[in-house]
Amino acid sequence: MKQLLMLPLVFVFISLLPAMAAADGTAILQERCASCHNLKGPPVSTLADLWQRKGPDLFYAGNKYNQSWVEAWLQNPKRIRPAGMFYIDHIKPGPKRDLVDESTLKGHIKLNAADAKAVASALADLKANSALIKAEKHDPGMVPGPLGEMMFDKIYGCLACHQIEPGYGGVSGPEIYTAGKRLTPEFMLSYIRSPQAWDPKIWMPNKHVPEANMQKLVNYILDLSKENFDE
Ligand code: HEC
Ligand code: HEC
Repeated sequence: MKQLLMLPLVFVFISLLPAMAAADGTAILQERCASCHNLKGPPVSTLADLWQRKGPDLFYAGNKYNQSWVEAWLQNPKRIRPAGMFYIDHIKPGPKRDLVDESTLKGHIKLNAADAKAVASALADLKANSALIKAEKHDPGMVPGPLGEMMFDKIYGCLACHQIEPGYGGVSGPEIYTAGKRLTPEFMLSYIRSPQAWDPKIWMPNKHVPEANMQKLVNYILDLSKENFDE
């Protein structure tokens, strides 16, 4: 008799299991992220498609981001591209120069801690372009000193598209002051070496930066992140 009474309780417990199971990152990506992010590749192959893109490509996320950054950012997203995915759509004329029209930019979806952890882990498994990453070797010893900012600003003109402090620098590319937290050094090296190897239609130019200076630029970006402009 006692066993018979226990049986319904066992069933109740079993039916609750799925709800108690850990969040499924891959399922969340499909359901809540795939409408804006390319999770499978290949990258867009026409300018028209590039301008229509609703979010950055994530199909090589595991080779691009620091996983702990993804997990934290998804719970508290802060703007990375000051003028959105395609700056032309979010710029208005100002008294002296064009300004970002904030009213046309939406905030990013926020996840709870458990979902963010599961999604960050699922994204870390998306590893397209591994050959590009394996070809890079980061040298933390190539210290840029004051030359870092000089190269970024004057010598290679990166500042025209990238901010190195909130509000200081161009708005047609992602801000660079948190890039060192977000991105792996190997991804940064590879992207600066050849932006089009990652995204054939992207408007970042290949500046043909010599190897030593590329290492210094990446170390400059890593140092910049330590200033915590985002906090
Ligand atoms: C409505 C469209 C939309 C949806 C839905 C969306 N995103 Fe995004 N996502 C964006 C845009 C736009 C950006 C660029 C934000 C910026 O630059 O500030 C972005 C940026 C990101 C970034 C940073 C990428 C980078 O390289 O800068 C990650 C990671 C990310 N999204 C993950 C997700 C995940 C995970 C989901 C689902 C839970 C999701 N997104 C849902 C539009 C979207
Ligand atoms: C004409 C504008 C332009 C110039 C000049 C430019 N970039 Fe970019 N950069 C971009 C765009 C656009 C992206 C990618 C945007 C995206 O993924 O949404 C990018 C991406 C990057 C990324 C990856 C950032 C991320 O969050 O994905 C790094 C690192 C970077 N650029 C560094 C540089 C450096 C270093 C220079 C100078 C040698 C430079 N850029 C010059 C426009 C530019």
